[in-house]
Amino acid sequence: MAIDGPAGAGKSTVAKAVAKRLGYRYMDTGAMYRALAWKVMRQGVDPGDESALEEILESTEVDLGADAASPSVMLDGADVSGAIRTAEVGQMASRVSGMGIVRRRMADLQRAMGRGGCIVAEGRDMGTVVFPDADVKIYLDASPETRARRRFKELAGREAGLTLEATLADVMRRDRRDKERAVAPLRQADDALRIDSTTLSASAVVDRILREIDAKSNEDGRTVS
Ligand code: DC
Repeated sequence: MAIDGPAGAGKSTVAKAVAKRLGYRYMDTGAMYRALAWKVMRQGVDPGDESALEEILESTEVDLGADAASPSVMLDGADVSGAIRTAEVGQMASRVSGMGIVRRRMADLQRAMGRGGCIVAEGRDMGTVVFPDADVKIYLDASPETRARRRFKELAGREAGLTLEATLADVMRRDRRDKERAVAPLRQADDALRIDSTTLSASAVVDRILREIDAKSNEDGRTVS
């Protein structure tokens, strides 16, 4: 199943909880873009330079640990799960993810990981581009202020000097870029269920999604993926 939406909508929390409840694998595709962005930053590469990115992609291995209870991201054999969780890496991920060459490579990897179904995949283009045949598609949204508050809570302990205002600006800049890019922009798939989590708890969102999955599997008489 596919969960898409803007930064701070609650995708990761909810996707992990749904995967745990169903015994499905979990795929955080944003972490893949973040891992690549981290390498691009370390190597001082221009994120708009297609041939430099191609070179990096050829010598880069990104692996996700798909256990929702302890998801991990490995970059060239090193665990970068913690290092990629900064606002700066998020911005760079948003920039490199606008490049067609990057998206094609990531989408191939994601489809390979998704083979066999029984996976909860979260990102920006899961329901629209990578898994257009997913049985259940969710578009999770929330007001920009709510999303910024959530992001701020997540990052405040780790990023000295961070303010809520700066986080809101950061979230909005990233959303704009993710929605306006030419390749695979963030948008709601026509057949996705939209859930606004502004006033909902994570567990209420999870319950709503599980009800949707139940309804779909009763309709189809099979396990949904
Ligand atoms: O979900 P996240 O905040 O970790 O994602 C970081 C960036 O990666 C996001 O701003 C856009 C990009 N991304 C993408 O383009 N497509 C995806 N499927 C997932 C993330």
